[in-house]
Amino acid sequence: MKGIFIVLEGPDGSGKSTMAKKIGDYYRGNGREIEFTREPGGTKIGEKVRDIILDNNNTEMDYRTEALLYAAARAQLVSEKIKPWLNEGKIVISERYVYSSLVYQGIGRGLGVEEVMKINDFAIAGLKPDMVLMLDVNPEKALKRKLVGGGDRLENEHVSFHKEVYEGYKKLIQFFPEIKLINAERSIEAIFRDIKKIINSL
Ligand code: ADP
Ligand code: TYD
Repeated sequence: MKGIFIVLEGPDGSGKSTMAKKIGDYYRGNGREIEFTREPGGTKIGEKVRDIILDNNNTEMDYRTEALLYAAARAQLVSEKIKPWLNEGKIVISERYVYSSLVYQGIGRGLGVEEVMKINDFAIAGLKPDMVLMLDVNPEKALKRKLVGGGDRLENEHVSFHKEVYEGYKKLIQFFPEIKLINAERSIEAIFRDIKKIINSL
């Protein structure tokens, strides 16, 4: 049986973890084996890279360094985990993938979507998801859900950065038809009902 690679995208606090869990429960109920992963991270090496990227003390980090570190963590995740899992026929549910880099680094940091795509093409070595679900929530609303605990280096960026990221996701949809936009300013159950429809049409 062929594996399925599902990616959840959306601003910080848009409900990606919540939906990842629900999608996992749904597939498990149908007898499939599930693997979850998050970006940046998901491997021993990737988690170390994650700590460097999100450390609030790393104020001097160049945006290109940031983009390369995200791509490096992703390369490790793809080769060490995601490809082997898919070859074993598993369902892989990842919170974030290249689309996050295109939006946060390409648009939010102003590095350019095409430039960031180049380093990511190298990093993912051709691995494209079967489905990308973009949770559409106004960034201020999403951040309020999230910042109760203090926030990491990226979450603590100004609201204007998160607004650019949000607008960036909307732009990206025009170029990547595999992205399905989901209105995520509703109840968890209403959102998941839509996701189930998309999954079942796969
Ligand atoms: P993300 O993984 O995108 O950062 P989470 O799934 O961790 O987002 O959700 C952030 C917070 O918002 C959590 O406290 C979660 O319980 C809550 N949350 C998730 N989905 C919704 C929703 N549809 N409505 C209200 N709160 C939500
Ligand atoms: P995390 O707390 O895992 O995300 P979330 O808030 O969605 O649960 O933090 C990851 C942060 O890294 C988040 O602010 C988005 C950012 N990011 C990028 O800037 N580029 C990327 O390629 C990825 C994967 C994440």
